[in-house]
Amino acid sequence: MSQIKIFDTTLRDGEQSPGVNLNQLEKLEIAKQLERFGVDRMEAGFPASSKGDFNAVKMIADTIKDTSVTGLARTVKSDIDTAWEALKGAAEPCLHLFLATSPIHMTYKLKQTPEQVIDTAERMVGYARERFPQVEWSAEDASRSDWNFLAQIIERVIDAGATVINLPDTVGYTTPAEYGQLFRYIKETVPNIDRVNLSCHCHNDLGMAVANSIAAVENGATQVEGTINGIGERAGNASLEEVAVALKIRADHYPYETGLKLNEIKRTSDLVAKLTGMYVQANKAVIGRNAFAHEAGIHQDGVLKHASTYEIITPELVGVNSNTLFLGKHSGRHAFKGKVEELGYNLSDEKLKEAFNQFKLLTDRKKEVTDDDIFTILTEIQTDT
Ligand code: KIV
Ligand code: ZN
Repeated sequence: MSQIKIFDTTLRDGEQSPGVNLNQLEKLEIAKQLERFGVDRMEAGFPASSKGDFNAVKMIADTIKDTSVTGLARTVKSDIDTAWEALKGAAEPCLHLFLATSPIHMTYKLKQTPEQVIDTAERMVGYARERFPQVEWSAEDASRSDWNFLAQIIERVIDAGATVINLPDTVGYTTPAEYGQLFRYIKETVPNIDRVNLSCHCHNDLGMAVANSIAAVENGATQVEGTINGIGERAGNASLEEVAVALKIRADHYPYETGLKLNEIKRTSDLVAKLTGMYVQANKAVIGRNAFAHEAGIHQDGVLKHASTYEIITPELVGVNSNTLFLGKHSGRHAFKGKVEELGYNLSDEKLKEAFNQFKLLTDRKKEVTDDDIFTILTEIQTDT
C-alpha cells in the first residue's frame, strides 16, 4: 500500500463557497477537528486577503501542533511576507503559492507571456524558500494548460526549491482519463519530479472531482487536496471523505491508504456543516442522512437478513452512530458520561459537571438532545479553557 497525503482546504477554498464566512474561533474549532481527523496538512486561509484571515491563520498556526499548516499567497513578495508573519509559529510552516499557466489565464487575467510567468514563478518560489521549509507551487488552471509548457515551468520551480507541485483542475473541466494522463505525462517528463510531492486539486463543476482525484492518484499523485463535505468555490471541491472511503472500500482495486481516522468523518462533517451553514444533502455519498437508510421493502428485508446485501459501507466505519440512545430530560449523569466518552472526550470531574449542567438546561428547551447539541456543549466548554 502506498501512503497518500491528505491536504485539507476547507478553511480556504471551502470558505470561498458563496455565502460562507467563518470567524476566527470557528476556523480554529474546525482546525482542531481536522487535526483530530488526521489530515496531513491544512490550508488555514489566505493571510494577505484580510486582517481577519491573517489573524485566523496565525491563531491556527500557533495552536495546531500535530498537522502542518499552510496559507495561500499570490506570487508577490508582500503576500509571501504577510504569510510568513502568520505562519512562522506553525509546527511545519508551508506556503502555498499559485500562478496561472493556461493560455486563457495568462492572456486575459495575467496579461503576461509564458516566459514572464516562468520567471515570476521561479523567483517567487526561491524567495519563499528563504523562509519556508515547505513551499507548494500550484499551476492554476493546469488542466487547461499546454502540457509541454507545464513540464518546463515545473522543472524550473523544482530547481528553485518547490517541495510540492500541484496541478489544479481549477474550473472542474477535466475528465478522469485526461487528468490521469496529465499526471503520467508529468511523472515521465519532468526530471526530479520524484523529489517532490505531486498533488491533485479538483473542482466539481461537472460532478467528477472525486473520480478525477482518484485517477490522479492512480497515475502518480501522492497528495489529494479537497474539502470536508466537498464545499468550495462554485460547485465545490473534491470531497475528502468520499475520496478516503472509496480508497478504503475498494482497497482491492486501489493499493493506497491515507492516515485519516475514518470514524471521525461524521463528526467533522457535522461541525463543518453547522459552522458554515452549508447543510449536507440527504443523499450525499458517505455522509448524507440517507446514506445508511433503507426505504424499499425488498432492501429492508435484505438488510435485516444481512447488512452486506445493500450496504457497502458500515455506519461505524465513518463514525455514524447506529446506537439510538435517546438523551432527554430523564437521562442521568451516567448516560450523559457514556455519551461524552462515545464522542471521544475525556473530561475532568469538574468539566463533566459543567457540561452536565448545560445539558440539563438544554433539556428544558428541547425534547431530544442530539449528538450535535452535546458536541456543541463540549466544544464550548473546551474553548473556555
Ligand atoms: O482551484 C485552484 O486552482 C486553487 C488554487 C489557488 C490552487 O484553488
Ligand atoms: Zn481550488
